[in-house]
Amino acid sequence: MAYKLGLIGHPIGHSLSPWIHQQFLDLAELDGEYKLYKGDHEALPGVLKHLKEIGIDGFNVTVPYKQVIVDYLDEIDKDAEILRAVNTVVNIDGKWKGYSTDGEGYVRSLKEPYPNLLNSETSVLLLGAGGAARGIYRALMGQGVDTIDLANRSQDKAKDLMSLRLGEVKSNVLSYQQAEEQLAKYDLIVQTTSVGMKPYIDDQVIQLDHISKDAVVSDIVYQPITTQLLHDASERGANIHHGHAMLLYQGQLAFEKWTENNLDVAHLVDKLENKLRGE
Ligand SMILES: NC(=O)c1ccc[n+]([C@@H]2O[C@H](COP(=O)([O-])OP(=O)(O)OC[C@H]3O[C@@H](n4cnc5c(N)ncnc54)[C@H](OP(=O)(O)O)[C@@H]3O)[C@@H](O)[C@H]2O)c1
Repeated sequence: MAYKLGLIGHPIGHSLSPWIHQQFLDLAELDGEYKLYKGDHEALPGVLKHLKEIGIDGFNVTVPYKQVIVDYLDEIDKDAEILRAVNTVVNIDGKWKGYSTDGEGYVRSLKEPYPNLLNSETSVLLLGAGGAARGIYRALMGQGVDTIDLANRSQDKAKDLMSLRLGEVKSNVLSYQQAEEQLAKYDLIVQTTSVGMKPYIDDQVIQLDHISKDAVVSDIVYQPITTQLLHDASERGANIHHGHAMLLYQGQLAFEKWTENNLDVAHLVDKLENKLRGE
């Protein structure tokens, strides 16, 4: 069979997903194509009707449709329902089921270079409380870490994120200044705000003066590949983790749901970096 896969969102013209999923199809030796299905809000019902008609096997959903897609689904995964966001839809015998792969994709991307980082003694600082932070917060909790403190510009949003708390994890809402002051206590710092993204590449959400050299600093922004925050962390001797790795692994998980192929994609992280650099 030839898989029919794709992406809906607006705008999506520069998406790397077709390239990523073509790599996966080639690796799995499967026939298929991953197409961009563009459309603004008005066009969305027509686009989705078309996808039903062609019997699409699965598709990704990006901004601004991660919430509205729920109205078009037959079923929704429990985690995606709790997160109030769907980024992957799977066609199961004609019925559409929605999932969120961002959080678990993030954790997979982190465990590849740092397999022992997440354990019952790990202290995490999560910067940001937007859509991406929600999935990452939940997925990190699922790893049984000790602490996930939250810092965000609007603290109300960070408090709202606390409602997703699972199990025994300790969690406090901090200002950015408080986070900077107690930075030395964290093993992992995850930057999920849009600060530092192109074209504002000199911006950095917190200062790293008090960072531990053993810490890992992870930035999910991938344009530029090495953000100012990651550059600063490197200069201070800390370890770093890039956002494009998450992009690859959330795709890997979606591909797994569509095709039941669990691919080893570690070697594609550098290839994706070259692609992003336009090489
Ligand atoms: N690598 C990947 O696979 C991947 C996946 C998803 C997203 N991302 C990237 O992650 C970033 C966030 O995406 P999202 O979907 O979570 O966005 P979102 O829901 O709009 O959340 C944006 C976050 O950034 C904060 N923020 C925005 N401007 C700020 C500023 N000037 N100062 C301080 N904080 C600021 C917001 O704080 P407030 O709440 O205070 O407004 C909020 O925490 C984007 O750059 C996106 O490209 C990467």
